[in-house]
Amino acid sequence: MPALDDATRGRLLFGGDYNPEQWPASVWDDDVRLMRAAGVNLVTVGVFAWAALQPDPGRFTFEWLDDVLDRLHAGGIGVALATPTASPPPWLGHRHPDTLPQGPDGVRRLYGSRNQYCPCAPAYRRAALVVTEALAARYARHPALRMWHIGNEYGTACHCEHCARRFRGWLARRHGDLDGLNAAWGTAVWSQRYGSWEEVLPPRRMQYIGNPTQELDYQRFVSDALLECFTAERDAVRAANPAVPVTTNFMDFYRHTDGWRWAAEEDFVSLDTYPDPNDPDAALRGAMSQDLMRSLGGGRPWLLMEQSPGAASWRPVATPKRPGLNRLWSMQAVARGADGVLHFQWRASRQGAERAHGAMVPHAGPDSRVFREICELGSSLAALDGVAGTSVRADVGIVLDWDSWRAVELPHQPLDGFSYVDRLTEYYAPLWRDNVTCDFVRAGADLSGYRLVLVPNLYQVTPAALRGLRSYADGGGTLVMGPFSGVADPEERVFTGGWPAGLMDLFGVRVEEHWPLAAALPVSGEFGDFAAAGFAEWASSRGAAVVATARGGPLDGRPMVLRHGRAWYVATLPSAPAMRRLLRRVCAEAGVRPVLPDLPPGVEAVRRGDRVFLLDHDSLAVSVVAAPH
Ligand code: GLA
Ligand code: ZN
Repeated sequence: MPALDDATRGRLLFGGDYNPEQWPASVWDDDVRLMRAAGVNLVTVGVFAWAALQPDPGRFTFEWLDDVLDRLHAGGIGVALATPTASPPPWLGHRHPDTLPQGPDGVRRLYGSRNQYCPCAPAYRRAALVVTEALAARYARHPALRMWHIGNEYGTACHCEHCARRFRGWLARRHGDLDGLNAAWGTAVWSQRYGSWEEVLPPRRMQYIGNPTQELDYQRFVSDALLECFTAERDAVRAANPAVPVTTNFMDFYRHTDGWRWAAEEDFVSLDTYPDPNDPDAALRGAMSQDLMRSLGGGRPWLLMEQSPGAASWRPVATPKRPGLNRLWSMQAVARGADGVLHFQWRASRQGAERAHGAMVPHAGPDSRVFREICELGSSLAALDGVAGTSVRADVGIVLDWDSWRAVELPHQPLDGFSYVDRLTEYYAPLWRDNVTCDFVRAGADLSGYRLVLVPNLYQVTPAALRGLRSYADGGGTLVMGPFSGVADPEERVFTGGWPAGLMDLFGVRVEEHWPLAAALPVSGEFGDFAAAGFAEWASSRGAAVVATARGGPLDGRPMVLRHGRAWYVATLPSAPAMRRLLRRVCAEAGVRPVLPDLPPGVEAVRRGDRVFLLDHDSLAVSVVAAPH
């Protein structure tokens, strides 16, 4: 199997999205010259070039792309060649209106923007394969080609008749027959029983609250339908040259595509990330996304496919990155396992929706702060010899379960706005601040390599997840579980008899009621007094020691933090300082240590291979030093 190594060839990649079709050919030579000056060694070409490559269904115009790839190759610059299928040209929607995606409201989204395709429309799938196969036939052995970039940021949902038909097939595979479907969806509630497959629909606009399992299955189905689009194109480019690695670009924590399933279909994982320079927690969020990418790829190096060198124009306040910030965040990605740093985009677009977006060559041209910083970044990356291909080790695993994520965010759970990513962040943040490196792990994975496993939420449990957690605990592992866990099965059927179902004995706890909080809940215990907020549970100890207890209000005296040997259960959402105290204690007991102890606040330390990256988020300084033994 090809891997990212085949593209890096031992050197960190550096570059960005290159859209030469927006420019006259006279600019292209200047581009290559400036790329060389900046140390660029990889550009992503063709992401939105479908109309430029196939101006009408019967005609390809590859000559300009031949020219561009040849110039890049002559300049020593490699290419991530994209299939342009994220943005079909108007002719596709015009000739085949059924390729245009339909919202839950039944209204079609028209061309004139991008991403306007139904993943299930046969005409879209055919057209996407035609252009992909043509590209593959022409360029699969081009010497500039380093990797294939399939589509772009998959995530478009559609609710049309094509989708309805495929959804029924997907449901039949999952639930067997209509009886299975009716049982799984609980259609006895509100007279929803289906008597024939033709009656079964995607969740479209309804009069009142929809069926939660229908919604959940549709989310799973959309992820799978998009994945079929990806794998069809992947197979087409692989058939033309199996040695070239294939990826598609993910977006941070993006619920709509199941990262575990998707990453398993790629040769390596890549990320588009746009932390907000105005967000005081941007570096934390960046680190978290980067750790997710490394984890999705099973610990192997991943690629930072897109970040902005300046502003992201889709933000209401599109503030550029201040001097040094792009370098700092780029180094953070490398520290956390990236084997390359690319940007959106190379040269700022003069026209179109993204004319205000940052670029490596901004509107001001190469005589600019931004371009000078890009050149400096290029040399810093080139100086990091021997980093590409090395790995990052984590002693802590944080369980990320896509189905629990989807399910807790369904409408009409006890707490609207119970954000799964916020739950992960509450556990990740204190460890990040203490320079403890974490992986994300799937529920049901082999956890035996971790000293500590955190389960901020596992709302839906499967037998495999239970087996994984139990065998980890039996092997002596330390576990911490957060509230609203072990509540429902994968069909969104609530377990009876108390929660966390299947784990009450392990944690020595039984939860009877979920208790969303309108006001802060005072808690006191071994970690001092703290305020919990948002969510709590009516829990009782079944053998666990009570470590912290609610004070006052209807939950007065109820246990909020419990421990049962090495298994900790947290029945609420403690304040950030309390989480930090709690996790410091748990880490100390589990033998989990920071990368370096006693660093000043604001300094992030990550060990990769035999180096430690020190990232100072206050001064924006970066240093890379040899790791202590
Ligand atoms: C995404 C896309 C790019 C571009 C950037 C702008 O990441 O993949 O094509 O639109 O956003 O931030
Ligand atoms: Zn559709």
